[in-house]
Formats: sequence, C-alpha cells, structure tokens
Amino acid sequence: MVSRVIPVDSFDLVIFGGTGDLARRKILPALFHRFVAGQMPDGARVIGAARSELTDDEYRDLVREALTEFIPEDRLPDDQLNAFIERMGYVCIDATGEDGWADLKGRMREDVVRAFYFSVSPSLFGALAERLHEHDVAGPNARIVVEKPFGHDLASARSLNATLREHFDEEQIYRIDHYLGKETVQNLMAVRFGNVLFEPLWNSQYVDHIQITVAETVGVGGRGSYYDRSGAMRDMVQNHLMQLFCLIAMEPPSRFEPDAVRDEKLKVIRALEPVQPNEIVRGQYAGDGEPSYRDDVEDPRSRTESFIALKLHLSNWRWAGTPFYLRTGKKLRARTSEIAVVFKDAPHSIFGGETARHRNVLAIRLQPNEGMTLRVTIKEPGPGGMRLVDVPLDMTFADALGPDVEDVPDAYERLVMDVIRGNQTLFMRGDEVEAAWAWTDPVIAAWEARSDVPKPYEPGSAGPEDAAVMMHREGRKWREIKA
Ligand code: BG6
Repeated sequence: MVSRVIPVDSFDLVIFGGTGDLARRKILPALFHRFVAGQMPDGARVIGAARSELTDDEYRDLVREALTEFIPEDRLPDDQLNAFIERMGYVCIDATGEDGWADLKGRMREDVVRAFYFSVSPSLFGALAERLHEHDVAGPNARIVVEKPFGHDLASARSLNATLREHFDEEQIYRIDHYLGKETVQNLMAVRFGNVLFEPLWNSQYVDHIQITVAETVGVGGRGSYYDRSGAMRDMVQNHLMQLFCLIAMEPPSRFEPDAVRDEKLKVIRALEPVQPNEIVRGQYAGDGEPSYRDDVEDPRSRTESFIALKLHLSNWRWAGTPFYLRTGKKLRARTSEIAVVFKDAPHSIFGGETARHRNVLAIRLQPNEGMTLRVTIKEPGPGGMRLVDVPLDMTFADALGPDVEDVPDAYERLVMDVIRGNQTLFMRGDEVEAAWAWTDPVIAAWEARSDVPKPYEPGSAGPEDAAVMMHREGRKWREIKA
C-alpha cells in the first residue's frame, strides 16, 4: 500500500504513565512506526514521566524491551531502533505532589508543539492538568491527550471536563476513543460520503434495521477490578459502539472538519430515545471447565455484565422506525467487529413471492479481515426457471490494496500524529461525551434499581439465548458471530 506521510511540526511529547501497560503496548510502538515512516521530524522527542526512579538510559532500556516485545522482529531493524531510542528521555514525577515538575519544565523546548499524554489512572487526570498549569510546563499552545474512561457517569464526566477546562481550552483537549483511529472506522465515512450509491438509500424508507457487533474472545482476567466497576455498557457501549453508531446514523457533515463532524454526532446522541427494559439483554459468561466471569473478578455475587445487546431508536426524520441493534461481549465465539445494514424487501416481487426472502445486506467488517460485502440477489444459473439466489459482492482491503495491507497503521499511530498536527476530528468533544453519559446513566440506573442479574452464557457462544429471542420476537436475526 502506498501511504502518504504528511509532515508534522517538531514536538516534545510527554507520556505520563510512560512505564505503564498502554505506553508499552500501544503508544511507544505507534511512535516507532511513525518514526520509521519518516514522520518524526529532526529533534522531535518523547519524554516518559512516571513515579519510578529511572535515569534516561534506564528508560531507554525499558522502551527497547517494550518494542522488542510488541513489534515483530522483522519490522524492528536495529539501526532504526537505536535511532528511535535516542529520542527518548525520562523524568521521575509525582503527579499529585511537587517533585519532578521543575525538571520537566527545564526539558521543554520553545517553539515546538508540546503534547502531554495522560496514560494514567483517571483519578490523576485533574491533578496532572493542574500541575502542568501551575508549574508553567504546558505553555499557551500545549495539547493534552486524555485516555478513556472519561468519567464513570454524567456527573464525573462533567466534573472532569470542568477541571480540565480550568487550565486548558477545549481546542487543547484531545479525548481519545481509539475506535475512531481505526482505519476501517474512518472508512465508514469514506463509504457513506465518498460514494453516491449508498446515501440515497441510507434511511428508514429503505433500511429495515442496522446491527453493530463488537465481539471479543478474551475474558476480563487481569483487569477484573476495573472491569467489574464498569461492565460492557460503560466499557464499550458508551464510547466505542456509540461512536460507530454515530458515524453510521449521522447526517452528512458539510466538511471533514472537527466541529462539523462532531456537531453531527452530537445531534445523533441527543436524538436517542430512552431504552426500554425489554430491549436490553445483559449476560455474564459462566461455563463448565473454565473460569467464569465471577471467578475472573473474584466476586461470586457480581452482577456486572460482560455481554450486552440492546435496541436503539432514533427520533429523527431519517431513522424513525428503523431500529439499531448493538451487541458486544467478552468470551464470545470469535473476535469480530462488523456493522450490517439490512435493507428492506423489494416492494413487489415479479417472480412470485420469491424476493421477499432475499434481502440486500451491506456488511462492513471492521476487524479482522477488514472489508465490505454487499449481498445482492441474482438468478440462479441454469435452465431451471427464474430461481433467485443471494451472492456476495466481496471486497477485502487485502485484495483491494495489495500485499502491504498488513501495514495498515494501528489506531494509535493516526491519533498521536493528529494530536501533533492539531486535528481534533477523530477525538471526542466534551459535550459529546457528556451527551453519551446522559443517555447511558438512566439505562444503568434502571437495571440497578431492580437489582438485575445478567443471564449466564457459555464461553465460546454467541451470548445469552435471550439476545437471540429479542431479535426473533421481531422477525429478525442476529448475524452469525464467526471469524
Ligand atoms: C477497550 C476496552 O477500550 O477496548 C477493552 O476497555 C476492549 O475492554 C478493547 O477489549 C477493545 O479494543 P480492540 O481495539 O481490541 O477492539
């Protein structure tokens, strides 16, 4: 694949939590790939900041180990690795105290972009913003990057927004939802707004319903204490699935620019109707022979959901009457994410009722095996009369873009570089996050009020039976979860 490298200005990027899991697994490898692609200008530097007492050299060793662990050997040439590591520095810092801030300030250069990545526990976001300001480390054009979770509910998200805005303008705050950095997610906008073909049909007149599935095979082992306080609704629906839903449902923005796109997404969230209790199915994995969810979180009475399916309604002209079905879960049959637009039956069958069973479906596969399939109805070949059959018009990125498709950049590569470029299009605005919580909160409150217990489902299945029943009731069917 030919990828265009857009030059960026020189920068100092400080990663708070620079020794942590996200930095090691995602942020540092993403920076390395951009370095290899030639997108890290001369002089651009990365400074890890954390509590551990490390020297610059010790931090460089840590970065070397992380890259060796998370990047395949054939993509990690020694000379590039050494040159990249040269750009690393380290400051030992106390996020809630005063230690280390003068040192950090001393390392900041004038006339370069300053970016501060908060890859730390959310409880420290406010303290970091405050200290950056007080110690005059940030400077007038600084950018801060805030990881999820952005709040636990509407009240905490509001209060976090208020704290950050005491010290930074909205234009300086980059709230990450890494789904927006995925190539295929950006492709949703290209498919919708770069083709004349789909947009005229993209409404309740032609679309029967839309399904969004994000299925994972992993459980919650290892992150039990975080996950058990969140559940699938807070961990996935409020952010990642909500973003996918917005991109599918929104009106065409006038430009691919931050506020034009985010205004349209916000309108979608605000047009959501409250979910009815019988339109939600919550599940928890529990099977014979392997640890159950409750084992993983070490709470035999946990009522947190590791699976959720729900039906959404939008009250606006485009979508009134067309439901959206969202589902996500851990320990499911396969790791697969897709969006399926299921079109209505042809209004009249000239072939004697046959078409009613053949529906056009546009399936957009987000991961793995990224691509699109459009199911169309054709005549079954042969002399046996006018029999209809569904066939796929199939496109995978791998076929369309050639063998280098493996090099599709990770979401973090795109997002970190957008921060340096100062482009907020793929980041969430404060009001958008609050609107998503405003819709999520009452849904959670309703199941908490009735002490709802999630339905058990077998690890390796498609989730609890009730999720299938919810669809069957309406004469619809979930798409199969398969790799
Ligand atoms: C994270 C969630 O935000 O996204 C995880 O906290 C989830 O629970 C992950 O596993 C999924 O991301 P991806 O990129 O693997 O689909």
